Formats: sequence, structure tokens, C-alpha cells
Amino acid sequence: MTQTIPVPDNVTALAALRAMIRERSVMAGLEAFHAGLGDVFRLNLPGFAPVFLIGPEANRFVLVSARDDLRWRLESDPIDRLLRTGLLVTDGALHDGMRRTMSPALHRQALPGYVAQMVHTTDAISARWGHLGQPLDLLDEIRRIALPILTGTMFDVNVLPDLNTLWDAVLKLLKYISPGAWLVWPGAPRPGYGWAMRQVDDWLYRLIRERRATIHTREHCADLLSILVTAPGVTDDMIRDQLLTMVIAGHDTSTAMLAWTFALLGQHPDALARAQAEVDAVVGAGDPGMEHLDRLDYLDRVLKESMRFYPPAHLGNRLAAADLDFEGYHIPAGSRVVYSPYLTHRHPALWDDPLRFDPDRWLPERGADRPHYAYVPFGGGARTCIGMPFAQVEGKIVLARLLQRFTFALVPGPIRVYMGATLEPRMNGAGLRMHVRARG
Ligand code: HEM
Repeated sequence: MTQTIPVPDNVTALAALRAMIRERSVMAGLEAFHAGLGDVFRLNLPGFAPVFLIGPEANRFVLVSARDDLRWRLESDPIDRLLRTGLLVTDGALHDGMRRTMSPALHRQALPGYVAQMVHTTDAISARWGHLGQPLDLLDEIRRIALPILTGTMFDVNVLPDLNTLWDAVLKLLKYISPGAWLVWPGAPRPGYGWAMRQVDDWLYRLIRERRATIHTREHCADLLSILVTAPGVTDDMIRDQLLTMVIAGHDTSTAMLAWTFALLGQHPDALARAQAEVDAVVGAGDPGMEHLDRLDYLDRVLKESMRFYPPAHLGNRLAAADLDFEGYHIPAGSRVVYSPYLTHRHPALWDDPLRFDPDRWLPERGADRPHYAYVPFGGGARTCIGMPFAQVEGKIVLARLLQRFTFALVPGPIRVYMGATLEPRMNGAGLRMHVRARG
């Protein structure tokens, strides 16, 4: 028998509104809807009625079993207009062919070649941290590390000379794709973004032109930009779309992952001390490298737990291309379908004490009975994040280097969960405010 998908009644809507005001976060509202309505619910705002599917079975349904009837591309969403034919927002043969072309740059075998760049960039940006004598905005600082790592490794381009002119434009584009009034009014005019798009496009098309001009004289052609420039049938516009996809998907997520990790370590000084002791024991005073990663067990668990608590990509949007049935609920073709790593990762039926930061829950003996799709920070199925192995190495290398060199303490005050393009920590209108001091 077909069941009706629950929608918020006045009581649930009021509870969600109260939670959002109390926590100053939209995520608190979604948690209230989930608590009040269960694992399948639909929002009923005018013009915006996504169906939320929560839990391991829902994740498997969206990511694997119903994948062919769910489209990534939602034409009217700003991210589609921005990324055009980018891997993140295309479907079918166009997507699959491009993913095959791009994979070698992100394959596990390519990662050792990126580590020195990760360490070097971390050092270049953090060189002044220990001497400032005032709190830093770590969200901002980590972005200054993650963006050059992305361009240095994927494009073999040093962005630092262009960073001052590009910085505001990149932040503006992240704002452009963040949830906002366009959700309920898709055709709403959105003035004020054109200059940012032009600035970033000018830079990307320049990189493409320059690479085409020098490709035959280069010794090293294994980076993504060189791969795309030499791939048959790939136009400059398509390359621009993939590069911009990487700029957005490949640095904002890592920034959020590391910023939340520092926020959580700041809130749990015992975990911070343990992570630092592990880095000292495994890496010592030298540079962190591939050979250390397998032995940084506690760091591994800290990063996993950080992405459980605050998955940077907190939800995934799809468009139902056909009528669907999920566990007796009918989802009509044309519906927006959402899966939520955030709500699944805090599901009380799946996690012991879900609101407790407990890296040791990732010890092998404690997770044996956890369902497969209970933890999906990188999505799953054939379209699992193509940058997952890269992000896992980057997370550990950058974290290890920073813990090796600095101590961190939070500026007192509440940390708010901000729903931007990814989930971000926010304190008093700024990002993550921490005192950072050079060690010993
Ligand atoms: C902590 C870091 C990261 C997280 C949490 C993350 C998360 C995700 C998730 C959840 C998806 C699937 C979205 C969906 O199902 O709708 C995804 C896809 C994607 N990610 Fe990541 N990501 C991270 C880092 C990266 C990096 C470093 C890159 C590139 C260097 C990258 C590039 C992409 C791309 C291109 C896709 C689309 C793949 C496809 O559809 O075939 N991501 N990511």
C-alpha cells in the first residue's frame, strides 16, 4: 500500500522555527523536521517541496539502486548555471566519459606526487601564524591553504600571485551557489555576481590558453589541466567547466573538513593533545609523508569523526526523472529528492550517543555492525566523490603539519553551523576564531 509522505504540520514547523532561531542555523530546523516527521518527509514551502530520504537504505536507494532514475542536473539551480558541463552537474555519457578522462589525475597512484606540494603550501601560508599575537580566523586561513593546494596539484599552477584578485571572486561564487531565496523563487534576479564570474573565467581561460601554448614543451603532463588540454574532443569551454568544478568542489570541502576538525579539537583539548602526541611519535620533526599516513591512526579517526559530525557536503540534490517508489512511499517524477549525510550521521538509531565527539567509535571493533551506507561523507556508488583519496591524504598531511608546528585554542564563544556551499563553522560573524601559537 502506498503511504503518504509526511509534511510539516504547524506544530513541527513551529518546533523547526524555534530550533533555527535558538541555534541560529538552518541545520537545526532540518533536525527538528527529521525528529518530528521521521526518515521520509517532504518540505512544503511555496515553490520548494523537496523529498528528504534519510538513513542507510535511503542513501543506498539514492546513490545506487535508483541512480539511473535520478538526475544530478537540476537546470534551474545556480550551481548548474555556474558549472555548466562540470562533472558534478552532468549525467549519462557526458558525465561518464569526462570522469574516465579526469580519473588518472585523482587516482591513488597519483597522490604521492602531490604530498610535497601539500606540505610546502601549508608552510607558506602558516609561516606568519605563530607571530601574530591575535586570534586567527582558521576557516579563512585553511581556505588559503586548500585553494593553492588544489590549483598546485590539479592544474600545476601557483595561484598565490593571483590570489588577491581572485579571493573575493571565489568567495562570491560560493555565495552564488549557497542556499538562498532562489530555492523558493528560482527565477529571482541575482545581481552582483557577474564581475566574480568574469574574473574567475578570465583566469581559467588564460590558464587554458597558456597550457595549450606550452603543452608540447612540458616535461610533466600528468596534472588535470594538461590531461584535459590533450584529451581529444574536449573544448576550452568544457575544460573551463571542469576546472571551475575542481576549484569549487575540491577546495571548499577540504576547507570545511579541516576547519571543523580544528573546531572539534579546540572543544576537546584531550583529543587535541592525543592527536599532537601521535604526530610527534610518528612524524617527529621531519616532513609528514605518505609513509606516515597508515600509522596516523588517531588522526584518521579524528577526521572520520569530524566528517560524521559535520559532513562538508551535508546534502545531495537529485531530480526524479521517473516515478519512484521508496519503501512504500510514492515519489512522482519531477520531484527534487535529497539525501542527507548530516541527518544520517546523527541518526539516533544508527549511532551510539550521536552528539558526542568520540573518535574512538571508529576503532574497528566498535563499528562492526554499522550498516554500509550509514556513513556517506563522500557519497557512494559509481559517483562517489572522485576526490576522496586526494582529500583523505590532504586532510592528514595538512593536519599533521599544523599540529606538529602549532598549538590551538578556541576563542570562547558559541560556534554556529552555517549552511553555505558546504557546512562552515561561524563565530560572531567571522569564521573559526582560534589562538594559534608556535610550539616549543
Ligand atoms: C573532505 C573533502 C570532500 C568531501 C567531503 C567531498 C564530498 C563529496 C560528495 C558527497 C560528493 C557526491 C555528491 C552527491 O552525491 O551528490 C562529491 C562529488 C565530487 N567531488 Fe568531492 N568531496 C571532497 C573533496 C573533493 C576534492 C578534493 C575534489 C577534487 C580534487 C572533489 C571533487 C568532486 C567531484 C568532481 C565530484 C563529482 C563526481 C561525480 O559526480 O562523478 N571533491 N564530493
